Amino acid sequence: MRIRPATPKALEEAARRIRRGLLVAFPTETVYGLGANALDPAAVLRIFEAKGRPADNPLIVHVSDLRMLARVATGIPRVAKRLMDAFWPGPLTLVLPRHPEVPEVVTAGLSRVAVRMPAGAIARQLIRLAGVPIAAPSANVSGRPSPTTAAHVAEDFANLRGLLLIDGGSTELGLESTVVSFDGDTVRVLREGAISREALAKVVGLAKEEGDRADRHGERPESPGLKYRHYAPTRPLFVFRAGREASLLAFVEAHSTALVLCRDGAFPELPKERVVTLGRSLKEMGRRLFDALRTQRPGESLIVLGVRKTGTGRAIMDRLERAATQIF
Ligand code: TXA
Ligand code: MG
Repeated sequence: MRIRPATPKALEEAARRIRRGLLVAFPTETVYGLGANALDPAAVLRIFEAKGRPADNPLIVHVSDLRMLARVATGIPRVAKRLMDAFWPGPLTLVLPRHPEVPEVVTAGLSRVAVRMPAGAIARQLIRLAGVPIAAPSANVSGRPSPTTAAHVAEDFANLRGLLLIDGGSTELGLESTVVSFDGDTVRVLREGAISREALAKVVGLAKEEGDRADRHGERPESPGLKYRHYAPTRPLFVFRAGREASLLAFVEAHSTALVLCRDGAFPELPKERVVTLGRSLKEMGRRLFDALRTQRPGESLIVLGVRKTGTGRAIMDRLERAATQIF
């Protein structure tokens, strides 16, 4: 693996590598992605191999403009266009009918393809220079927290030969894109993310939340990635829901070598060296969450105080619940 700062020259090299079927890790406004030419099945396979990603978990295709979108998806519903107008470029992924030019390995055999136009300037420029859509999952080894810095990517892929990593510093949002699908005019949120349900609902009608459909009906989940454990730190993670501060403190008493992840000033009674702060606002918490889950500080386990499930709080709790060893 080789790291280069995001200079124009480095982006040109990265674009050439994408066209040659090689992998490039790059920052978007959400998290770092591990990218390859979405129209080259052999290149896309390299992503699955590198991440150890199950072959039934499809990838998001990133485009730089609407002309490129036309090479990836067809028959785009009107309600999807309304969402593009409102949120693109940005952290919203739309699941659309797949253009026949998109190889099946990208969509894991599904007839629909997930697409987004990222807002991050480095990502946009890289796609534009490459001249092809870029398939990119988050640039972490499967099951690990998503990377929000180049150092996180390096942690997971230091030994991956031939990888070029474009270092663009910390990502702006820190949580992945929101993924939505369409059923006629009905919009369904498949994965909570950087754009809240509340923000979407100002533009389109949303299907009610149904909980985990796959669990209830034993059918194939609509967004296959959701069935796997994700975001897991390398030590046990105990999640306490908002309002359970007292039980958290009792648990901390009993686990004297644990680190506590929480908003600034939440537990003034705890010694500083035991606390990893997540900032003050939900926005800041979203930005810092994955870095905190990857903290290198000593401690046998991680304990985190959750937040209420409104706005960005939903995506934060979704990630914590998937990462958790146990939830209280
Ligand atoms: O912000 C993001 O979305 C980042 C950056 C790099 O763009 N990407 C990302 O990709 O988070 P990944 O692969 O870690 O997550 C993609 C999610 C998974 O839950 C996957 O199952 C779902 O999108 N997905 C992808 N293609 C799909 C499809 N055709 N139908 C339904 N769900 C799909
Ligand atoms: Mg991921």
